[in-house]
Amino acid sequence: MSRRSKNCFFPSLAKGSGVLFLAGVLLLGQSGCARRGNDDVRVGVALYQQNDTFISTVVQDLELQARGWEEETGRKLTLTITDGGNSQSTQNDQVDRFLDRGYNAVCVNIVDRTAAAVLVDKAEAAGVPIIFFNRQPVQEDLDRWEYAYYVGARAEESGEIQGQIVADAWKADPASVDRNGDGVIQYVMLEGEPGHQDTLLRTEYSVNTLTQTVPAEKLASDTANWDRTQASARMGEWLDEFGDEIEVVFANNDDMALGAIDACEAAELEKLPFIVGVDATPPALDAIEAGTLQGTVLNDAEGMAESMFALIRALAAGEDPAEQMELEDGHYIWRPYRRITAETLSER
Ligand code: BGC
Ligand code: CA
Repeated sequence: MSRRSKNCFFPSLAKGSGVLFLAGVLLLGQSGCARRGNDDVRVGVALYQQNDTFISTVVQDLELQARGWEEETGRKLTLTITDGGNSQSTQNDQVDRFLDRGYNAVCVNIVDRTAAAVLVDKAEAAGVPIIFFNRQPVQEDLDRWEYAYYVGARAEESGEIQGQIVADAWKADPASVDRNGDGVIQYVMLEGEPGHQDTLLRTEYSVNTLTQTVPAEKLASDTANWDRTQASARMGEWLDEFGDEIEVVFANNDDMALGAIDACEAAELEKLPFIVGVDATPPALDAIEAGTLQGTVLNDAEGMAESMFALIRALAAGEDPAEQMELEDGHYIWRPYRRITAETLSER
């Protein structure tokens, strides 16, 4: 079979626009395709957990993209969002339902990123493209099917930017970071969810990048699961133990950086440590403006939603995205991270 023959993306839309695709469907005898007779498009979005600040931004941006699509094409596009409640089996059931109901594409923010093979195989069997985002499956799982994609940002880049923000502040004024003047940066690390690529790589690359400029000493590190309240609790304990010995707080995301700030404020610290996060959420930008957060790294939710829709558009037009856009290794679309500090905020 040719690679096109086993796919049945958007059969109804393909009539108008995807000549090649339609020819493929007709020649190969429809094989379960063309289940829907109207022009409506349905896209299922399975979230690992709805209650996540960054993920809710991605969802808002997907909604905006969907409305843009409707204006552009005059066709209705329904986005159905499900909450996996952090359970892979719940999420598998939700994806099954999208596939059973003949959705045109599924977007998956996978709970357990080692568990993608099952979902890729199900999508392939149903002939429905599957777009993973933000939580990166292992490459061999994506390689199982050519219509499996990943849209995200390179985790190591965000860690490097965090490290650079601290290193640059030290270079500009060593005492602003190395408060006790011992020539070493004493830091704590608030980690995201264990096993998440962004936890592993931000943790590693932030410190590696900083230590290319100045030596660093870890006082403590622990997971706070991306969560502000948990981060505040961890930081409270560390403040009890180390007090103002903590010179830098690396937080794998902004919610945890804000949790660290909460703890410092609750402890009535005279001077906050140098705190950096990732995401550039609105409250984090406010904290940068207020001077409590020293920097963050923009995690491009808008760009991710845009790339996911670029894939959906190509598929809906009966085109193979691999021929339409730059896909690394046939599966990946990467969005760049961007450094945000008080200086870049005032540039806006
Ligand atoms: C974000 C976190 C978010 C996580 C969810 C990360 O890229 O920085 O804020 O909780 O993704 O998967
Ligand atoms: Ca020091």
